[in-house]
Amino acid sequence: MTLLDFIRYEQRLTGTKIGCREGDCGACTTLVGTLNSRGVVEYHSITSCISPLGNAQGKHIVTIEGINLNNELNVAQEAMKFNYATQCGFCTPGFVLALTGFAFSEKEKNYQNILAAISGNICRCTGYKSIERAASEVVGQLEAIETDNKIPWLVAREFIPAYFLGISDQLKGINRKAKRNTNAFLVSGGTDMYVQRPQSLVETEIFLVAAAQRLKGIQIRKTKVVIGANTTVTEFWEHTAMQSMFPNLSRHLALVSSEPIRNMASLGGNLVNASPIGDMTIFFLALHSNLTLEKGKSKRQIALKDFYQGYKKCNLEEGELLTEISFETLSPYVRFNFEKVCKRTYLDIAIVNTAISVEVNDKDEIVNAHVSIGGVAPIPFYLQTTSRYLRGKTLDILTISLAAEILQKEIAPISDVRGTKEYKRLLARQLFVAHFTELFPNIFKLQDFLENADS
Ligand SMILES: Cc1cc2nc3c(=O)[nH]c(=O)nc-3n(C[C@H](O)[C@H](O)[C@H](O)COP(=O)(O)OP(=O)(O)OC[C@H]3O[C@@H](n4cnc5c(N)ncnc54)[C@H](O)[C@@H]3O)c2cc1C
Ligand code: FES
Ligand code: FES
Repeated sequence: MTLLDFIRYEQRLTGTKIGCREGDCGACTTLVGTLNSRGVVEYHSITSCISPLGNAQGKHIVTIEGINLNNELNVAQEAMKFNYATQCGFCTPGFVLALTGFAFSEKEKNYQNILAAISGNICRCTGYKSIERAASEVVGQLEAIETDNKIPWLVAREFIPAYFLGISDQLKGINRKAKRNTNAFLVSGGTDMYVQRPQSLVETEIFLVAAAQRLKGIQIRKTKVVIGANTTVTEFWEHTAMQSMFPNLSRHLALVSSEPIRNMASLGGNLVNASPIGDMTIFFLALHSNLTLEKGKSKRQIALKDFYQGYKKCNLEEGELLTEISFETLSPYVRFNFEKVCKRTYLDIAIVNTAISVEVNDKDEIVNAHVSIGGVAPIPFYLQTTSRYLRGKTLDILTISLAAEILQKEIAPISDVRGTKEYKRLLARQLFVAHFTELFPNIFKLQDFLENADS
């Protein structure tokens, strides 16, 4: 069952609400606390409606009831009340937990970041302004947080109740080892699966991949970045080495789902789900990534670009586990960009998304290029011909314009609810050009391409 159903129907803790049951509205937000290797509990917000209960094993799950102080409101509750940020109240527990979750996060304590922390919460009454004021008040009280001593600091300032101080000791006593059932259906964060087949999963025997610690983490081995398939989008985002390798990582990943979904969503799940518009898939395709797959004692490697065989079909045998995603570390000459257009900027799936890694030498020659694109083919698409064309060419308007024409021949979009095939072709061109105006602003201006297109 889902964590939400356990909370409401088994524990009868009805402060956690049910809205969409698809991870979209945040009414069911809870915090999940995980013991790290230093013995400290790290808390993140999640949407409990699409989280398998089994993923709570060995964790501290905090519902709105568990955040209440004895007789007082906590800081987030008080800020919501003071700013009249609650009307019918249905969304309020979710907002309070998302705001409290932000207090624990590694993110810099500024206004933009606290708004991002409530990006997965929807309110249909207040119009948001009062909630934004409450958020501003909460972040104001977090500026001086002692990052090495977070939990005692938050207890002392009435963000959370005192019992949080004893949780790490309680978690240490719980057996968190999971048994592998090779024939069971694999679920990691569950953010795809519990939306696609919520009912049948209740009846299906599942193996919770998220419990496998060996599939977590990011390592740099000589010239390779090796990422455990269970690593979440948030863990990838917060990794210091990834932030320096991808200077615009925050801007790119803010376009991927919402804070609570990123906290659950594994990178491996995004790849195996095989959605033609999976953002992280498009991201890793442009890094020319490889996958390591494991079944029993046998292991094999496959290039991510060769992994997809048709719509939602990938080269994965039954019982085979994706363990690692790897790519070459980026040299200082390599630049990376990701672009995505949706019907709304945040918390939406792409109409078209694309990424590029491009190496350019001192003479403005393109040494290497890998371009990927989603939403224009049945699979997340590596643009083989376009990438090959770019290699060895001079980085100028003519090269990029001709490459944009080759790209049009490579793709085959269809019309669907997200857009017509003509619109997707237009987006594919504009976003391809945007890679270059974004990465090489000294060489390219958007205007140059518009003039070129007119002529
Ligand atoms: C509200 C909402 C918004 C979203 N927004 C976006 C978005 O903006 N962009 C985007 O790309 N996606 C988005 N998603 C989709 C989803 O969050 C991602 O695809 C996520 O990365 C899936 O990871 P997961 O761990 O939750 O996968 P799961 O649902 O656990 O699994 C997905 C698939 O992968 C398989 N699997 C998982 N791990 C392994 C493994 N190690 N080996 C073999 N098979 C495995 C499972 O069997 C399943 O078939 C959104 C989802 C929701 C609910
Ligand atoms: S009920 Fe809407 S996100 Fe869970
Ligand atoms: S106060 Fe009613 S939904 Fe937010």
